[in-house]
Amino acid sequence: MNVIGLCGSLREGSFNMLALKAAQKLAPDGMEISIESISDIPLYNDDIRKNGMPASVMQLRQKLAGADAILISSPEYNFSVSGILKNTLDWVSRAPEPPMEDKPVAIMGASIGMLGTARSQYHLRQILVYMNCFTLNRPEVFIGMADKKFAENGELTDPVAVKLITDQLIALQKLILRVACK
Ligand SMILES: Cc1cc2nc3c(=O)[nH]c(=O)nc-3n(C[C@H](O)[C@H](O)[C@H](O)COP(=O)(O)O)c2cc1C
Repeated sequence: MNVIGLCGSLREGSFNMLALKAAQKLAPDGMEISIESISDIPLYNDDIRKNGMPASVMQLRQKLAGADAILISSPEYNFSVSGILKNTLDWVSRAPEPPMEDKPVAIMGASIGMLGTARSQYHLRQILVYMNCFTLNRPEVFIGMADKKFAENGELTDPVAVKLITDQLIALQKLILRVACK
């Protein structure tokens, strides 16, 4: 199973990127997670779309179209998803053949706040409803106080978060199989 990881933060040392890297290591047998950068995705402009989507957008759309599932880890910015992620999803959502339609999606997030992106994840779920994705309901992965949960070398050291990510990826594996059977 080929899963594409998207990070909603461009920050070097991003806790959300570290969470995705932890997920790469925790993935069950048979699942591979490739993290795709969204740093080259331009600001959405419908005039540009009408004249042809930019190459960086087309490349990402192609990779998403070929994936079995998507794993998104985004920071919470002002109680919502980061604009960086939303902008990318806006490009991805457009016709023709929006590549995330009917795809299983798992979401997680890391924040230095207590709630670990809980508020923003419910906004993200709403966006994914419009995009007609099969978003995994449980387990939810909220990594609060993220500045205390990763070692200096970037490794996720919090056992609760490690277990949640492990369990979420197993649940995602099952969802991929269920969606493929439809
Ligand atoms: C513009 C902005 C808004 C933020 N808003 C929130 C917020 O609403 N809730 C929260 O828990 N943290 C908030 N934070 C703090 C982030 O949790 C923190 O910067 C986190 O490390 C970002 O994720 P990253 O490490 O992946 O870049 C905000 C940070 C920024 C830069």
